[in-house]
Amino acid sequence: MVSDGELAIAKSVDFPMELIYFNGNNKSRQELELALPGKGWGVGRIIVDNFYELSLLEDVAKEAGVKQDIFLRLSPGVDPHTHAHLTTGAQESKFGFPMAQAEEAITRAISSSFLELIGLHFHLGSQIFELSPYNQAVEIVVRFGAEMRSKYGFKLEEFSPGGGLGIAYTEDSPAPTIAEFAEVIASNLVDKAKELDLEPPRLIVEPGRSIVGQAGVALYTVGATKEITGLRKYASVDGGMADNIRPALYGSRYEAVVANKAEDQDWERVTIAGRFCESGDILIKDIDLPKLAPGDIISIPGSGAYCLSMASNYNASLKPAIVLVRDGMARLIRRRQSYEDLMSHDII
Ligand SMILES: Cc1ncc(COP(=O)(O)O)c(C=O)c1O
Repeated sequence: MVSDGELAIAKSVDFPMELIYFNGNNKSRQELELALPGKGWGVGRIIVDNFYELSLLEDVAKEAGVKQDIFLRLSPGVDPHTHAHLTTGAQESKFGFPMAQAEEAITRAISSSFLELIGLHFHLGSQIFELSPYNQAVEIVVRFGAEMRSKYGFKLEEFSPGGGLGIAYTEDSPAPTIAEFAEVIASNLVDKAKELDLEPPRLIVEPGRSIVGQAGVALYTVGATKEITGLRKYASVDGGMADNIRPALYGSRYEAVVANKAEDQDWERVTIAGRFCESGDILIKDIDLPKLAPGDIISIPGSGAYCLSMASNYNASLKPAIVLVRDGMARLIRRRQSYEDLMSHDII
């Protein structure tokens, strides 16, 4: 988790807070106080990202009279060959201690009476399709852990290589399976630990979108269409960048199916445009689909992660509903926003 809001959601459903690993590059004093045991919610591990946070957390733990289990987040300087905005483990990343500062972070953490250094973490980025960057980063971080053991007696009890396993948004971008990812990480970790004469640490993984990304399908209704002869045909839908910012933010590609014309053979090239006041609000540029007409339902697979969690009320639009579907049964699990929801924070 990465914010007090996410912790609050977990707390609201009685999720066991001791299982939570709390990440983030700029946790506030209030968030850290909330995370501590005692008066706070008692999250399992706080993943310390930088020196400022190390001091701040030490202060708040001291004030609260508690000892907090922590990890250090390291930037191993490995390029996972994904979109630049999704790369998080490079030397120049805003996240984590660069390796050149990692030793100082270790000595400061282990000398604190209010922090218990349990493990090391890295997160290379998101939408990663190659497994070799994980191998490289595991090697760098475990080797560093072994060096810190011999210098300072640090014991690497737990180890987290983050998440980032890519999912296939389009047919031409197949992703490694979760089993392949697990095999590479686990066997590499065990081998490295053996080679360096370390007790294999407990492995913690943070597979985000690979769990839920493909479970979600976004449904849009076609409204206006516009053909600019010789240039492009647009079909505008009743959603767009406010419910899926990924195409505008990262140039992400999606596939689509016209749900009510899935068997149609009469295809044409079209651009699916969102309804928001930005020319960049294009959900899919140039896709071949059955000829579209107002009222057609376009379904976009791979919408289960980073669509509604990044959604906004841009143009005062209402966030959509979520329906859980299984074995022919459907249940509304989040209702569509209302105008009252939209204005509920305004003070007149
Ligand atoms: C620290 C950390 N771990 C895991 C994840 C999950 O990434 P993904 O959903 O791409 O697998 C993220 C996502 O930003 C993250 O910041």
